[in-house]
Amino acid sequence: MSGPVDPLLAAFEEAYGRPPQGVWHAPGRVNLIGEHTDYNDGLVLPFALAQGVSVAAARRDDGVLELRSLQAAADGRTVRVEELTPGAVDGWAAYPAGVAAVLREHGVGGASLLIDSDLPQGAGLASSAALECAVALALCQLHGVEIERAELARLAQRAEREFTGTPCGIMDQSAALLCTAGHALLLDCRSGLSSQVPLPLGEALSLLVVDTRAPHALADGDYAARRAECERAASLLGVGSLRDVKDLAGALASLPEPVLRRRTQHVVTENHRVEAAVGLLRAGALAELGALLTASHLSLRDQFEVSWPRADAAVEAALRAGARGGRMVGGGFGGSVIVLAAADRLADVREAIDAAYAERGWPAPAYLEAVPSAGARRLL
Ligand code: GLA
Repeated sequence: MSGPVDPLLAAFEEAYGRPPQGVWHAPGRVNLIGEHTDYNDGLVLPFALAQGVSVAAARRDDGVLELRSLQAAADGRTVRVEELTPGAVDGWAAYPAGVAAVLREHGVGGASLLIDSDLPQGAGLASSAALECAVALALCQLHGVEIERAELARLAQRAEREFTGTPCGIMDQSAALLCTAGHALLLDCRSGLSSQVPLPLGEALSLLVVDTRAPHALADGDYAARRAECERAASLLGVGSLRDVKDLAGALASLPEPVLRRRTQHVVTENHRVEAAVGLLRAGALAELGALLTASHLSLRDQFEVSWPRADAAVEAALRAGARGGRMVGGGFGGSVIVLAAADRLADVREAIDAAYAERGWPAPAYLEAVPSAGARRLL
């Protein structure tokens, strides 16, 4: 949760001259495994972090939306909900404004919002989705609108696509809204069906999140380019999506361009790695997951080509220091790495990564220990 709520309540009163009617929270996420599979109709296995975005909010009945953030104090916005169109609001405020615009069709109106976050931005931990989902819950509850959570995730995804131009998949919003404490969420992005998989971290084994401090921005063109390559490969193979490839060897033999073969190889094998990971977790064999994480990283580095030098260096150093496995998370080109290690090896792992960064003249990364936490909820 993003810190104690009292300072947020006080800041809301100071900003708007009245107390908020409630405070809502949505978490960031770590994707355990299943990267760049969501928009290929595939499988993902994220879990929610304890860190996230909180929104103090009060309803307005004059159709005005006031947006303020403790992280962007000088950059508040006041807009009319009925005038919200893609492009009307830019920067951080495009995310909550997009959500309000999409929910307008469901009966949501104006509100005063004050946002606070303890998620590092650009760290690949889905801070945008946390913001969208916390705002979506707040607006729905303030206006008495009931929308089932899986549907709310789709609406938040639509808001991001239409109002920020990022063609993101459904994973991050689903993780924010559907995860439960102590579990990862197995989500089939084709059927929309999900189930909870026990994830007993923090006992013998811990998962360290390493923010490599090479910020990523999904709105850059690389993410969209990967997505387009996957769609092109699927269309050349005559299937609806890469999820439908059953005969990998046959598919690779028939694709004309090496780059499309690499993308296909990653997506098809990554879906199998998710299934294997779920099997191991259900069997209580968490330690064995390490090899799958590292295999996923190598595939993202060599086949999907979305890794970045600081991620590769962190994974290599962690493995040399005795970690069970590790990989980059999120869209790539910057952000975070996760490392699975015995709890009593964490200090060695951090030391090894710090040393590898110092050797190359890079600033030390930031660390947080991941605790599988609850999904979005009302705090007050
Ligand atoms: C970003 C997107 C997700 C997903 C991942 C890659 O986080 O928002 O939808 O595509 O990248 O797995």
